[in-house]
Amino acid sequence: MKIINASWVITCDENSTIIKNGAVVYDNKIIDIGPKDFIEKKYPDIEIISLKENSVLMPGLINSHVHLEFSSNSTTLKYGNFMNWLNSVISFRDQLVEKATTKFISQKLLKMQKTGTTTIGAISSYSYDMDACIKSPINTVFFTEVIGSKPDMVDTLFTDFKSRLDNAKKSRSASFIPAIAIHSPYSVHPFLLRETLRLACEEKLAVSSHFLESPEEFEWLHKDEGSFLDFFKNFLGQEKAVTKPMEFLNQFKNVDNLSFTHCVEASENDLDKIKELGATINHCVTSNRLLNNSKLDLDKLKTIPFSIGTDGLSSNNSLSMFDELRNCLMAHFDKNVIDFSKVLLKAATKNGSIALGLNKGELTKDKDADMISLILPNEVEDEEDLCMNVILHTKFVDSSIIGGKNV
Ligand code: BEZ
Ligand code: FE2
Repeated sequence: MKIINASWVITCDENSTIIKNGAVVYDNKIIDIGPKDFIEKKYPDIEIISLKENSVLMPGLINSHVHLEFSSNSTTLKYGNFMNWLNSVISFRDQLVEKATTKFISQKLLKMQKTGTTTIGAISSYSYDMDACIKSPINTVFFTEVIGSKPDMVDTLFTDFKSRLDNAKKSRSASFIPAIAIHSPYSVHPFLLRETLRLACEEKLAVSSHFLESPEEFEWLHKDEGSFLDFFKNFLGQEKAVTKPMEFLNQFKNVDNLSFTHCVEASENDLDKIKELGATINHCVTSNRLLNNSKLDLDKLKTIPFSIGTDGLSSNNSLSMFDELRNCLMAHFDKNVIDFSKVLLKAATKNGSIALGLNKGELTKDKDADMISLILPNEVEDEEDLCMNVILHTKFVDSSIIGGKNV
């Protein structure tokens, strides 16, 4: 058991509590939290870690949606239009994935750790990222992904999916949690959807799916029209979408920990259904911008929680959550910068934990002791401005604690 104190403690709890000169008592879980003087009197004779002047202690950041296998992309893929991007992914994916070795992905994970991430939701298309995730101190919810809409391929694809999922399950630990990703409503055959979700429900695995990321996807799913029609005709010999959006969503009943990524073209009915399903929306604002998709209308979410994902380097120039948070703060220019910063820190911690079905993301009693500390360049005059200044000024963290251990 240890005490760590800081000039500021941002709890990211329900009430967004901030403690000036605060302290946290922890082992692998948070044991207590409060003002430094009170905590140090209440727990005499235990080791105290005192962080520097202008220090901030907060929950580790949770990147709820990332594709590590595409980490070798920087200048290869085409941005600016969703179809052009998708075609470029199909042309270059083998080449990109081949370059993303375990060593390469491990370097990216280390950089993510140094930029404040303590937990990721890793969408794995091939399981080539599994070893790097297992070796990293970062907690991983490892989403084995299923993809494929061609009827004559579904048996083979399901067998491959099950074998990859079984492999992930063999490495299950407190910091490596197997889960299931459905690629999207347009790319997954109803049989695969039904069977993978049956497994998820039986085995209580978290589930995540991309959903209505682009106008092209909307046109295809609702009307079997638009630029997806040519793509599907040429690539897969199909002229009709395999599922309608609402039919797709209706399959996800009984999944305990559920998230949908993007949802920028989701209708009010879709959002009502997502709410009813108890799902979280993974908001990937940089990815949406780079592919010239729409920006998620956060006001339309009402009470649906949203979390923050970088997506992969296939549609982002950075896997740093602080870079992503800054982009998000700038992109949503209609929101008040001070108030929205508080919302964003909670999205990147507490809501990420909800999306992934974890017991993290808040500095409150009994939550996992995943914490980051950072040093602000100067004193914060007004407590109101703390969260905004954390987002504006943090490039790298000072230290990270995962499961109570310094990493
Ligand atoms: C498919 O297998 O149906 C698919 C794969 C990638 C993108 C779109 C569709
Ligand atoms: Fe994605």
